[in-house]
Amino acid sequence: MVVWTTAERNAIVGLWGKIGVDEIGHQAFARCLIVFPWTQRYFSSFGNLSTPAAIMGNPNVAKHGRTVIHGLDKAIQNLDDIKNTYAALSVKHSEKLHVDPDNFRLLAECITVCVAAKLGPEVFNADAHEAFHKFLAVVVSALGRQYH
Ligand code: HEM
Repeated sequence: MVVWTTAERNAIVGLWGKIGVDEIGHQAFARCLIVFPWTQRYFSSFGNLSTPAAIMGNPNVAKHGRTVIHGLDKAIQNLDDIKNTYAALSVKHSEKLHVDPDNFRLLAECITVCVAAKLGPEVFNADAHEAFHKFLAVVVSALGRQYH
């Protein structure tokens, strides 16, 4: 079981309350498709992903970015049981969507960059980064848990 200090809990929940999740979800998912272009292979039905501008302006990307980030809301609300919270989602990404689990970490890095860029170094300071990094590492591990 993951152990969170009170400071970590406060930092994670506090950051989450400040970021504007829909905007960050869109930006982070678009960034992932741009920076790690092989991740586009799972989204062939999304239409034009040929340039950064096309990706940023693609409504399917915006919509899916919101879906993913609202998926993270569930982890925020269940910090003490992220593993079970994501059991079904992990099965889905593994057995139905066949997403390589290495990609979870790539998206997590994009989320970190977008949150840091939005909040700036006073709010996203070293302690906040450390707590948020741990949160995303637990999420990535839980999502990869049902892979065999
Ligand atoms: C669908 C969450 C990372 C590929 C979904 C859904 C959620 C979700 C909530 C909708 C599931 C449903 O409809 O039942 C997450 C979270 C992630 C993550 C929380 C990590 C923080 C990724 C990554 C990829 C990916 C890195 C691939 C590079 C997909 C695909 C779908 C999907 C292909 C189905 C899209 C569609 O056609 O509608 N994800 N996801 N996910 N995810 Fe993820």
